Amino acid sequence: MPEGPLVRTEDLRVYFPVRKLFRTVGYVRAVDGVSLSIGRNETVALVGESGSGKTTFGRALLGLVRPTSGRILFDGTDIASMSEKELKRVRRRMGIVFQDPYASLNPTFTVYRIVEEPLVVNRIGTKEERREMVMRALEEVKLNPPEFFASKYPHMLSGGQRQRVAIARAIITRPEFVVADEPVSMLDASIRVEILLLFREIQRRHGVSFLYITHDLATAKYFSDRIAIMYAGKVVEEGPTRAVLSEPLHPYTQALIEAIPDPDPMNRFKMREVVPGQPPSLLNPPSGCRFHPRCPYFMKGKCDVQEPPLYDLGGGRKVACYLLEDRAAGS
Ligand SMILES: Nc1ncnc2c1ncn2[C@@H]1O[C@H](COP(=O)(O)OP(=O)(O)OP(=O)(O)O)[C@@H](O)[C@H]1O
Ligand SMILES: [Mg+2]
Repeated sequence: MPEGPLVRTEDLRVYFPVRKLFRTVGYVRAVDGVSLSIGRNETVALVGESGSGKTTFGRALLGLVRPTSGRILFDGTDIASMSEKELKRVRRRMGIVFQDPYASLNPTFTVYRIVEEPLVVNRIGTKEERREMVMRALEEVKLNPPEFFASKYPHMLSGGQRQRVAIARAIITRPEFVVADEPVSMLDASIRVEILLLFREIQRRHGVSFLYITHDLATAKYFSDRIAIMYAGKVVEEGPTRAVLSEPLHPYTQALIEAIPDPDPMNRFKMREVVPGQPPSLLNPPSGCRFHPRCPYFMKGKCDVQEPPLYDLGGGRKVACYLLEDRAAGS
């Protein structure tokens, strides 16, 4: 197996121009300087409030949106500078599962056709071989017996079953990297764990790397090895899941985590409904640390002047906050 992480971004930026009439009046800085790695066979949870740039980051990694600057290394090769044709070849090694299992499946296709489609598009296998692969994929996502589900249409299935179809479609080409963008947030709480365990099982069997996008720390705890906390286009904290959840270091992460005594591990960590204050504008973000207008530890003349670097604290932990300056220097 080759060395290094499977996916790595270096100072990745994705800006969307805002136009008024025919003039560009500014840029929405959806992703603004993110350097993040996803190891082989690893799941990284990307957690943050709505509009913090999570989906844009995931789409950039899949080559679905072109970065403004920075590099995206997939298995050592920069995909940010690839032609569409080269990208298409690399994309075969990637998969995506979307949030909404109702909107992401073509309602006029049978389950069979939905799951087979990536094989047809990529001209993989004969008709017979494809049939074999579809049936195996359906079994793998526990839609048994596969013949029964293959002939169904999406509207005949439950939300959980539909998401299993979407997962079968995502894994049928045997991708090495899958972006799962809020894959369980629209499902009943009772089936969330089942679906996340299914991802785990697929990972164990085939060695897949996942970027798991979520606003929900409880499920991140279940299904990630590492967590990256995103705020206004930037990663403000990163580290092993256990460490980040048991000792959150960035004031924003601390604000997100509400430890409540609950015997159900799924409910032990809750994302607060609202962190006090407003998320900043990505068109005109605050100076210095983007979190400073909402931060209880705000240091005037420092946090509002210069952006804190992402301090490396050792043990895989990184935090972009001046409060950790001394600890970083001592580590
Ligand atoms: N194609 C686009 N054109 C212009 N602006 C965009 C585009 N896609 C996203 N944005 C903007 O980029 C910012 C980040 O959006 P993004 O969807 O990445 O956030 P998110 O963290 O995934 O949010 P959510 O949790 O709501 O899914 C938002 O301000 C959004 O309006
Ligand atoms: Mg999103």
